[in-house]
Amino acid sequence: MSQREHFGSRFAVIAAMAGSAVGLGNIWRFPYILGENGGAAFILVYIAASLILVLPIFYAESIIGRRARSDTYGAMKKLAPGTHWHWVGLLTVISPLLLLSYYSVVGGWSVEYLFKSLSFSFTDVPAEEIPGFFGHFISSPWQPVLTHTAFMAMVTGIVLGGVKKGIEKFSKVAMPLLFVLILVIMVYSLTLPGAFKGVEYLVKPDFSRLTADACAAALGQAFFSLSLGVGTILTYSSYVKKEENLLVSGLGTAVSDLLFALIAAFAVMPAVFAAGIQPGGGPGLVFETLPFIFHKMGEGMPVVTTLISAVFFVAILAAALTSAISMLEVGVTFLADEKGMPRRRATLLLAFLCWAVGILCSLSFGPLADVKVLGLSFFDFLDGLCSDWLLPLGGLVFTLFVGWKLSKADVRDEFTNGGTVNVRLFGVVYFLMRFVAPVGILVVFATNLLM
Ligand code: TRP
Repeated sequence: MSQREHFGSRFAVIAAMAGSAVGLGNIWRFPYILGENGGAAFILVYIAASLILVLPIFYAESIIGRRARSDTYGAMKKLAPGTHWHWVGLLTVISPLLLLSYYSVVGGWSVEYLFKSLSFSFTDVPAEEIPGFFGHFISSPWQPVLTHTAFMAMVTGIVLGGVKKGIEKFSKVAMPLLFVLILVIMVYSLTLPGAFKGVEYLVKPDFSRLTADACAAALGQAFFSLSLGVGTILTYSSYVKKEENLLVSGLGTAVSDLLFALIAAFAVMPAVFAAGIQPGGGPGLVFETLPFIFHKMGEGMPVVTTLISAVFFVAILAAALTSAISMLEVGVTFLADEKGMPRRRATLLLAFLCWAVGILCSLSFGPLADVKVLGLSFFDFLDGLCSDWLLPLGGLVFTLFVGWKLSKADVRDEFTNGGTVNVRLFGVVYFLMRFVAPVGILVVFATNLLM
C-alpha cells in the first residue's frame, strides 16, 4: 500500500477515537468501580490520573502511531529496528483477547436485558422487584453463558463477514442517541425521591476511603476507558493526517470520554440510592438500576418503559460491539500478517479461545462463585489483571519508548507538526511522558503490590 488512508477531518479523528473510547467502560464499568471505591474522592483521583498520567500515554501512542504509520508491532520494528521493542506487540495481542473474554460476558448481559425489555419484563412487576432480576439471571448456570455465546457469535460474524461498515454506520447513530438518552435519564434520575443522597455521594469526598487499591482502580479505569495500553489509539493514530493537531484530538477524546462517564455516574448513583441498592454492589450495578429508572419513567405507560429500555440496550449493545470487534481484530490481524494464518481460521480460533475463557467468567457469578483466583472471582480477577496491570504496563512501555528511546527531536517534530503548533506546550507534555507518567504508574504498581 503506497498511500495510507486518512481520516477526513479533525471531527472524524475525534469521533473515531471517542467511538473506541466510549463503551461499556463509561456506562457499565465507571459507575460500579466508583461505587466500590468510595464515590467522590475516587472521582477526583480519576480525573487527576486521567489528565496527568493517562493523557500523556495517549500522546505517546499518537506520536508512535502517526510517526510510523503502522500497527504496534510494525511501528516498533520501524522506529527501533534491530531492538526488542517490537515484543510489546505481543502484549498488545494478548491483552485485548483477555479483555474480550469478559467484555463479551457483559455484552451478553445487554443482550439479555434487551430481550427482557422487549418481553415487557420491566413493566409487569413493581419497580422495586427489578433490581433483583440481575442476581437471579447471573447466577443461572446456563442463561448468561447463552447470551455470552450470542454476543461472541455476533462479534465473530462481524469480523468474519466484514459487516463492520454496517455496524460502524449504525453506531454513528446509536452513540449520539445513547448520549442524549443518558442525559435524559440523568435529569430524570436526579428527580427521584432520595436522589439527593446519590448526588452527595458523588460530590462530597470521603478521603478515608481512598486506599492504594482505589488509586490503582482509578488508573486502571482511565486506561480501560480511553482504550489505552494495547495499541488501539496507536493504530488509529497511524491514519491521522500530518496536519492534525495531536494535542487537540487527544484532549477532545479524553474530555468527551470523561464527560460521558460522569453523566453516567450522575444518572446511576442517584437511582442507586433511590432504589435502596448498595453503591458497592459490583458489576451488576447499572443493570439493576437503569431498568428500575425506566420503569419509573414510564409509570402507568408500559409502552414508554419498553421503548426507552429497548432503545437504551440496543445502543449499549452497538457500543459494546464496536469495541469488541476492535479487540478481536488486533489478534486476527497479527496472526494473519505475522504468521500467515488465513484470516478465517485466525478469527475462529481466537474467538473460540475468548468464548471458552468467557464461560469461566460468566459462571463465576453462579456455579463457580466459590472458585477464587488470588481471592477474587474469575471475572474480577481477569478484569483486574487487564485493567489494573496489563493496560498500565502496555502504557508504561509506550511512554518509555517515546520518552527515552525515540530522539527528542523526532518526538518534538511529530507532536508540534514540524514546529508549527503547540511549541510552547511541548516541554510540559514531554516532561509528563518522560518522567511523570512512568513514575506515577510505577508508584501505583508498587503500592498496589505492597499494600
Ligand atoms: N474503551 C472501551 C470502553 O470503555 C473498551 C475498549 C475498546 C478498550 N477498545 C479497547 C479497552 C482497547 C482497552 C483497550 O468500553
